[in-house]
Amino acid sequence: MGNELRSVFEFHSAGRIIFGRNAIKQLPQALVPLNVKRVLVITDPILVRIGMLETVLEPLTKAGYDLGLFDGGEPEPTQAMVEKAIDFGRQFVPDAVLGLGGGSNIDCAKLVANVLSHHGGLHDYVGENRIPGPVLPIVAVPTTSGTGSEVSAAAVFTDTTRHIKVSTLSQYLRPRLALVDPVLSQTCPPKVTADAGIDALVHAIEAFTAIDNEHYPLPTGETSVYQGKNPFADLYAEKTIQLVGRYLKRAVQDGSDLEAREGMSLAATMGGLAFSNAGVALVHAMEYPVGGAVHVSHGAGNGLLLPYVMQYNEMTRMTEFARIAQLLGADTSKLTLEGASQKAIEMIIKLRKDIGIPNQLRELGVKPEQLKGFAEKAISIQRLMRVNPRYPSMEEILHIYEQAF
Ligand SMILES: [Fe+2]
Repeated sequence: MGNELRSVFEFHSAGRIIFGRNAIKQLPQALVPLNVKRVLVITDPILVRIGMLETVLEPLTKAGYDLGLFDGGEPEPTQAMVEKAIDFGRQFVPDAVLGLGGGSNIDCAKLVANVLSHHGGLHDYVGENRIPGPVLPIVAVPTTSGTGSEVSAAAVFTDTTRHIKVSTLSQYLRPRLALVDPVLSQTCPPKVTADAGIDALVHAIEAFTAIDNEHYPLPTGETSVYQGKNPFADLYAEKTIQLVGRYLKRAVQDGSDLEAREGMSLAATMGGLAFSNAGVALVHAMEYPVGGAVHVSHGAGNGLLLPYVMQYNEMTRMTEFARIAQLLGADTSKLTLEGASQKAIEMIIKLRKDIGIPNQLRELGVKPEQLKGFAEKAISIQRLMRVNPRYPSMEEILHIYEQAF
């Protein structure tokens, strides 16, 4: 660790964000500055079945783009699935890769764009800043609201041999264009809406309560996409928390509620801007081993773990927690700081229950004997551990898992 306090931080985003109802109509025109002709589209069979392709792709074909369609996307993509998409891409030889769908499809598009550009294997780039240079232009068109992948620098897939989710993290993976149209998310089913939506909240809270940028323990000579808590990321994190408090339950209860969908689309993108600069921390580190071992979506796993990790972090971030309670809509004027901070945790537990996210790991089929292995894997993810405001020991992580069990 360097001895001097860090006084500098950076802020990165997608190259261009187009946001709003029916923004999708602008897609053909928005691709023009990218100077591309052959676009590889990564999507999944569900979106094909519900007719999403007609809405999104027909205008592109009419505008003269050559499209290659890979529709084998799966939730929580495995290495094997991403490799199929890469093989497809090698045949098609695109000059841009468009991810259409949830974060899984967008992440897959990022991984494909990278491997097609640099010709290594998928695993060669896992970790932070291991991509040697620019990749094919990535275009992100999300149909769910939560992962923030449309603006983020990360792409996650499951390493099926090690039973853990792994992440490739690089500024080169930020989409050149993020086109976020809330209307597209109206087709998203309630469970996916809930799981993705709580992920946006986790992103915002982990960014907002991250270790301060000036104390971020980055070893000398190492670079990091994540930089710890900073004023730019705070701005987006606070807004995200407010939007999730206002709109997530509504979006889950009535998918056609366009105002709620729009609020959650904004929350997802803003949450992505917050966490992809400040960082995510212990919740994500603890979710990766769980998600690699049992069948649970990234969002539901994170949502489950969030209050337990908050309880652990509370002593270092009480002021921020009290602010989170306010942002979620609580009147904290008559509460002590500690009371307001606890209120945030209570409100999140209630929200989680209201939208059907499980409360205990055992509900996911986790066995008690798995917890120790989870803790060992979680603590090994240094790039996330060092973002957390409290640096946990193995025993402490195990204890959090036991409480969540
Ligand atoms: Fe996440």
